[in-house]
Amino acid sequence: MSDPIQKPDLDDSINVTETHGRIARQAAAAARENKLGENGTQPVSLWLFLALAVVLIIAGGVLGSGGSLFAYGTSFRDGYVRKPAPGDDDKGPQPKPAIIAYSARGSKIYSAKCGGCHGPGGQGDGANYPSLAGSAWVKGETERFAMIVLNGLQGPTSTGKAYGAAGMPAQGGGMSPEDLAGVMTFLRNGFGNTVGDIVTVDMAKAAMEISGKRAKAGQQVDAVELEADHKKNLPGDPLDPNTLVDPVTLAPAAAK
Ligand code: HEC
Repeated sequence: MSDPIQKPDLDDSINVTETHGRIARQAAAAARENKLGENGTQPVSLWLFLALAVVLIIAGGVLGSGGSLFAYGTSFRDGYVRKPAPGDDDKGPQPKPAIIAYSARGSKIYSAKCGGCHGPGGQGDGANYPSLAGSAWVKGETERFAMIVLNGLQGPTSTGKAYGAAGMPAQGGGMSPEDLAGVMTFLRNGFGNTVGDIVTVDMAKAAMEISGKRAKAGQQVDAVELEADHKKNLPGDPLDPNTLVDPVTLAPAAAK
């Protein structure tokens, strides 16, 4: 037998309003509860954040004062001074004594143009190329030396010995006066040579003029011509080897 149909008790119908109110209150209470996310997660309680914040503040105080975690002293070196920013005093390469600046320029030219034949130490090879270390024509009159470099040489050389039929080819092509002055100064004061003077850029310019006016311009010089026309020093004011010059232009540095 089935349950008797539950019919509303008409005597209780006066409580419908009250029942309605109760249902509404329950629904409101349920709505205030934390909602589950779609994947089942629950929002984290604000109390938890508050508790963690307290823990962090205490931990920070302990580590920061006694410990080294936040201690500024360990990352700050005593006596550290920041380098001054580059200013007006620090523009480009600093001036150097002429003997150093000229020789540095000359050393590069020598490696590029001469060392292949005369050897990295200027010692020659005894058979095909003469030594420039100790050479009387390197250490002697500068005009003679310059004419050999600019025009090449048909032996004999300063020792009377001739090296090969072709002689030395001209090296003046592409050389600036600074290059010529540099390589001559380098050789007169390097590889054991100790003349102690500077072949200046002005002297090198004069050498180029003299070379262009030679009767046999374009041909190698030989011992006869060197002896007759070029056994003298190049014109130009001497330069004290300690004079400060610009290492690039080789011009005397302006007095400051
Ligand atoms: C291609 C090889 C070659 C190159 C490069 C060369 N020379 Fe020579 N040089 C010779 C030869 C060879 C002689 C000897 C010539 C002869 O006997 O006919 C010589 C002779 C000389 C002499 C004469 C030395 C003496 O005591 O009589 C001088 C100085 C000299 N060279 C300087 C230079 C300089 C400086 C350079 C570079 C700018 C240079 N040479 C580049 C081959 C070369």
